[in-house]
Amino acid sequence: MRIRLVYMEDLPQLALIEASCSESPWGIKMLGEALGLEGAFGCLIEAEKTEAEKGKGEEGQEILGFALFLKVWEELQVLTLCVLPGHRRKGVGRMLLREAGSVAKRMKIQKISLEVRQGNGPALRLYAQMGFVRVGLRKAYYRDGEDAILMDWPL
Ligand SMILES: CC(C)(COP(=O)(O)OP(=O)(O)OC[C@H]1O[C@@H](n2cnc3c(N)ncnc32)[C@H](O)[C@@H]1OP(=O)(O)O)[C@@H](O)C(=O)NCCC(=O)NCCS
Repeated sequence: MRIRLVYMEDLPQLALIEASCSESPWGIKMLGEALGLEGAFGCLIEAEKTEAEKGKGEEGQEILGFALFLKVWEELQVLTLCVLPGHRRKGVGRMLLREAGSVAKRMKIQKISLEVRQGNGPALRLYAQMGFVRVGLRKAYYRDGEDAILMDWPL
């Protein structure tokens, strides 16, 4: 596995991954708009295709997961974080957040912040493991009425 920055050319593949992760995906256009914002950047994890995939004529790298971030003043916001369902629990999410932590420290940013659905157990466990702490709650933040938990990772 290797980690690298997201480029605009990656967006079609990222939109497919996002569609497999979210019930209300942003889609290519919104992902592109987010990545185009001043202070935005993305990281992705990719891996060489498996022997089975190569046997089917598929060559090259497969993107396993990605995250988009936005620097706003003294904090780095996590805009989105998605890992392909077939590649979860392999440390991809953790690796993406660790990279964000290193980038943020180099930028002298003191915290990473995000919103997460109250019922998103896997994400909440990942964030807690990384050192994020709950700092607030936004009632009925999502369209379906679910609350958002606000979390910060002090660096
Ligand atoms: C949340 C998500 C990004 C986690 O990605 P991942 O690559 O599977 O996470 P990791 O393998 O790095 O997991 C790191 C730790 O998080 C916790 N964790 C992650 N998924 C978990 C699960 N399904 N159940 C319990 N704990 C989980 C564990 O503590 C895990 O460490 P361990 O495997 O050593 O026990 C992934 O499930 C996902 O893409 N979900 C859909 C999109 C989403 O909810 N994004 C977050 C929006 S705020």
